[in-house]
Amino acid sequence: MSIEELKSLLESGRVNEDQDVIRTYSDDWTGRYKGFTSTVIFPHSTDEVAKILSWCSTNQVSIVPQGGNTGMVGGSVPLNGELIISLRKMDNVSFSNTNKNQIVAEAGATLLKIQNLASERGLIYGVDFAARDSATIGGTIATNAGGLNVLRYGTTRRQIISVEAVTGTGKIIGNLNGLEKDNTGYHLPSLLCGSEGTLAIVTRAKLQLWPEPEETVAILFGFNTIEDAVNLTEACMTANTEIIACELFFQKGVDLVRESYDLQPLWDNKNSIYLLCEFAGDSGIFDRLSVNVLGKILQTHDSVLVATTDRERQRLWQYRELHTVAVSQKGIPLKLDVTIPLGNLPHFLNSIDTICDNINPLSSPYVFGHAADGNMHLNILQSEPNVAEMEEEILKFVVSLEGSISAEHGIGRAKAPYLHFQRNEDEIRLFREMKKAFDPEGILNPEVIFSTGN
Ligand code: FAD
Ligand code: MLT
Ligand code: ZN
Repeated sequence: MSIEELKSLLESGRVNEDQDVIRTYSDDWTGRYKGFTSTVIFPHSTDEVAKILSWCSTNQVSIVPQGGNTGMVGGSVPLNGELIISLRKMDNVSFSNTNKNQIVAEAGATLLKIQNLASERGLIYGVDFAARDSATIGGTIATNAGGLNVLRYGTTRRQIISVEAVTGTGKIIGNLNGLEKDNTGYHLPSLLCGSEGTLAIVTRAKLQLWPEPEETVAILFGFNTIEDAVNLTEACMTANTEIIACELFFQKGVDLVRESYDLQPLWDNKNSIYLLCEFAGDSGIFDRLSVNVLGKILQTHDSVLVATTDRERQRLWQYRELHTVAVSQKGIPLKLDVTIPLGNLPHFLNSIDTICDNINPLSSPYVFGHAADGNMHLNILQSEPNVAEMEEEILKFVVSLEGSISAEHGIGRAKAPYLHFQRNEDEIRLFREMKKAFDPEGILNPEVIFSTGN
């Protein structure tokens, strides 16, 4: 078999073999996974994806599906010369013609493109995070991406009404009927969401949109103890505060972001723990907040910044959203993305520095994340040469606290060696059998989720 044969099945220009172009697709965003391949293929339709996968399975050619290549677990790049199938050229979006609150998106459409179309009708898409300008619908479905508003709208899984995909043998499955109630066998959107390109390539999806809140207010609180920050998180979630985001971060990360982007101090550094909360609903939201569970803290607490305009909110959000890029500019971090039950979160967060210090006193952990989901991101710089030891120790600690070793980024290659920390042998065997059913030749992302060890 030769790639010329594949080219002959496709329109011209779909197959790129220029190494200068390929390099921008073969290394991952974190810089930790540097891949190589001879070819990037850019299908423009579901039928072309089907033709490509049929040819690849007949010829047992492994592939890596790729969207925006912003994934954080080494799942989107070819480490063994796999062909890249980039969905970027499939980026059409349109409103559903049968349901005013739904959008039809091709896999390569970015979150931003969907958000912009939704806003034309005074609607919003429920998933949002800092990589919105490059993360794609296909990638966010494949990783079941979470982001900033999970506590209000859920993860990507909650946004998908219907999905169309192509299996490892080139069979087109799914539909775009947009029916919330369609109990006709296994639910493909749920099955494929979080499958990380190992079961099928998602080509199109019909997505739920939500009414745009009339008013949004951001409030930044400063605390001296993690317990106080977690207590407020729980208070905001149990009372009806119309909370839509709740992000926790620390002085060390704020100092790094300020240094990297020349930002003003938020207040003098007497508080080293930050909780950025956002509330959205009908107008008059701040008045309602002032008389509910937040009322007392808004009157008495000495480190509170309130942002009611878009501009003021963006100013506060940059201190949180720039963490990932600021850390990555300093080096290639060991990236952990874990979930901890809120009740165990203070203990977890109070232990991290000591764990890292005991393993490697030169390591430098930055911690930040989605507090309401218990989802913390650890970006640990200078963890070499103890990366594996540090990763194993922290992930075992997470499991001991009844947490998850991967909250929203997926397993990819990065966490594959640790999947058995969380899933038992029978489950992993079942996952492998499911993969065999969808991808009998094992050509779809062969090393993702499953490591040779488990
Ligand atoms: P890629 O990186 O291209 O691929 C990711 C995985 O999906 C790979 O395994 C790939 O093979 C597979 N894949 C891609 N397209 C398809 C398809 N069409 N069909 C089947 N499989 C496919 N993630 C969060 O969840 N929450 C956050 O808050 C968040 N914040 C981020 C902030 C920054 C600054 C950055 C850089 C990343 C962030 N991410 C976050 C991580 C990343 O954006 C998500 O994992 C996202 O879902 C990846 O989308 P992508 O299109 O870039 O996918
Ligand atoms: C975030 O919430 O900023 C991301 O998930 C990215 C990260 O883990 O760095
Ligand atoms: Zn995140």
